[in-house]
Amino acid sequence: MDEVIKTVLFKEVMALEKNELWLKIQEILGAKLEETEELLQDYTVSNVVIMQDLMDHIVSSSGKRLRPILLLLSGSFKPVHSENLIRAAAAVELIHTASLIHDDILDESQERRGKPSINALWGNRLAVLAGDFLFSRAFELVALCRNYELLKVLSRAIGTMCEGEIEQVRFAFNLQLNEQQYMQNIYRKTAALMEACCSAGGRLAGLDDAAVLQLEAYGRNLGLAFQITDDILDITGESLITGKPVGNDLREGIITLPLIYVLEDPIWGPYLKESIEKRDFSPSTLEFLQHPSCINEPLKRSLNKARLCLETAREYLSGFTGTVEGEILDSLAGYVLQRKL
Ligand code: FPP
Ligand code: MG
Repeated sequence: MDEVIKTVLFKEVMALEKNELWLKIQEILGAKLEETEELLQDYTVSNVVIMQDLMDHIVSSSGKRLRPILLLLSGSFKPVHSENLIRAAAAVELIHTASLIHDDILDESQERRGKPSINALWGNRLAVLAGDFLFSRAFELVALCRNYELLKVLSRAIGTMCEGEIEQVRFAFNLQLNEQQYMQNIYRKTAALMEACCSAGGRLAGLDDAAVLQLEAYGRNLGLAFQITDDILDITGESLITGKPVGNDLREGIITLPLIYVLEDPIWGPYLKESIEKRDFSPSTLEFLQHPSCINEPLKRSLNKARLCLETAREYLSGFTGTVEGEILDSLAGYVLQRKL
């Protein structure tokens, strides 16, 4: 399909996806989100033409802004220096975007958010530098906040994300990967940043340690569920909707939760084991994964696991009931389970 049509369709589905919950978010955070967008624009300006071209591509293919939303909501439980909150919200989006650019290099992914990836268009060398550039801009914003706790929380999360990516490579094609190791990997690569967003917001708002811990636990569990649904969508999703090629995980040797469950199946497990051992991921070999008796149960179990994480996430919000921010954080948990991209 034509790239332009693909991008337009992806954006339309994304707009639909946002619906009611997003209207509520707009109502509560609208002005802060707009200011975050302005900062994102300002901090992706470069005097170097090629870098600006890269930045234009990045800014034009924006994501759901989930991380800034988590940070802004967590930071709105008390009146706060909103300039710093917005700087931090922009910083976490820049960090997230940098990590996806580097991830696409590592995964050799050709598509992201309905468009060709940075590495596909400009090659790995420029893509690494574009990620580093975003990263440096993120920390310029963090520096302006003059808040060591914020600096510490975000630095630690990034280190954890790097460890997660390394562990993912170490476990690639490893048939012994178990559910516990999978959960640890997805905590590191995805949930740690969401946990940090909630922590950063709470700390900037001056909440006490107990409240910050609750928000962190919410963000961590939301992040775990988010990555499990991402891994389910890699099998069931439409690439037009997700904006990413489907079935990529297995081709890269990433054994996700639904695949761990398929491997446990006495009938279908040996088929998957053989194709992983032989590195044979041709559509005809993997046809068995479409078979309802093979895939339905693993998908159902994975969804249940995601649901459990979300229930846990919601339990940690008990101290924030009766607040509109708490209500939105609660609804975000529902969104994670239903999302299609
Ligand atoms: C996407 O996972 C990748 C991540 C969530 C984290 C990537 C982290 C790094 C590259 C290290 C940190 C680097 C910086 C600059 C902060 P995925 O491949 O499962 O998801 P996908 O399907 O969206 O690609
Ligand atoms: Mg990837």
